[in-house]
Amino acid sequence: MSRTAVLAGVGGYVPPRRVTNAELAPGLGTDDGWIRTRTGIRERRWADAGTTTGDLAAEAGQRALKSAGVSDADLVILATSTGNQPMPATAPEVAAMLGLGQVAAYDVSAACAGFVYALTAAAGAIAIGVADRVLVIGADLWSTRLDPADRSTAIIFGDGAGAVVLRAGTAGERGALLGFDAGSDGDRRALAVVPGGGSRQRSAPHLAELANEYLTMQGRDLFTQAVERMAASSERLLRRVGWTGADVDKCVAHQANVRILHTVADLLDVGRDRMLTNLDRVGNTSAASIPLLLSEAGADGRLRGGDRVLLTAFGGGLSWASAALVWPALTER
Ligand code: UT7
Repeated sequence: MSRTAVLAGVGGYVPPRRVTNAELAPGLGTDDGWIRTRTGIRERRWADAGTTTGDLAAEAGQRALKSAGVSDADLVILATSTGNQPMPATAPEVAAMLGLGQVAAYDVSAACAGFVYALTAAAGAIAIGVADRVLVIGADLWSTRLDPADRSTAIIFGDGAGAVVLRAGTAGERGALLGFDAGSDGDRRALAVVPGGGSRQRSAPHLAELANEYLTMQGRDLFTQAVERMAASSERLLRRVGWTGADVDKCVAHQANVRILHTVADLLDVGRDRMLTNLDRVGNTSAASIPLLLSEAGADGRLRGGDRVLLTAFGGGLSWASAALVWPALTER
């Protein structure tokens, strides 16, 4: 039987500081009621000054290794768009913080779809035999990149990290990753962008005063794209693995907006009760959103051994990606 990546552990971490809607609202011309109704978010966590994306990633990574009952990995892939610095990647630093030695480590940049992209890369590394155990982390710290005057972004994003351990196994096992779908649309890159800080700005100095290093987002268009892309990607994947929407026991989709989640659930015929959420408490944590929710739902029993699970994500790029797996019986450690 061919080598397949199998989920062996999961962990998540959010920084302790809670930021409620009421705390954000006054300077933005918005209110708790608007934010709850239009997004589903009640509060999010923001890291304190001095905390880096790497710190969040290392904490989640440590928890995932513990959940898998292991202390090493031979590859670390970190999905993030808010790394500790533009160069080098943050994954090597995280591997060093975790005491993993001189293992292969790199970052994947695919915004909110980054974790599922990283999962695809990790499963490929296992399948071709370059790794037997991979630590895959999604971590983002957007709070320092939000324009405090922009109510369309400032209310949405939270900081956090989530991680999984994948090991080499076989497709018949619980935890096996059964299939993937991924795609991108670079023509629509302007819908969610940090315009400053890259080669486009630096090689065109006249753009310098226009570009800034805050995240800008065209919310309404992104909303439509998020619904269409996650639904279409999920449908392609379901066909590939031979499931219908009715076969999906739980869907863990990128936590951008509860109205997006409900619409995707309706389109896929995955009941809204099978569409898991945690964005009411953590907001949109970008690349962390799917593994953070996997970790919570694995711990609180919303995900049970044998559940057929659909993951689907969408973000800037545009980028989207989906994966299917059977949830393993993870032991509490
Ligand atoms: O993570 C992956 C990428 N991101 C997403 O997928 C985000 C997807 N988009 C969204 O979640 C929503 O579009 C938002 C929450 C960002 C905005 O909600 P919306 O219901 O789509 O609002 P809108 O942009 O269509 O704006 C409707 C109105 C506008 O006022 P007018 O022009 O109708 O007078 C906005 O100015 O709501 C206004 N508005 C707000 N009002 C109070 C926008 N943001 C706010 C706010 N509070 N925070």
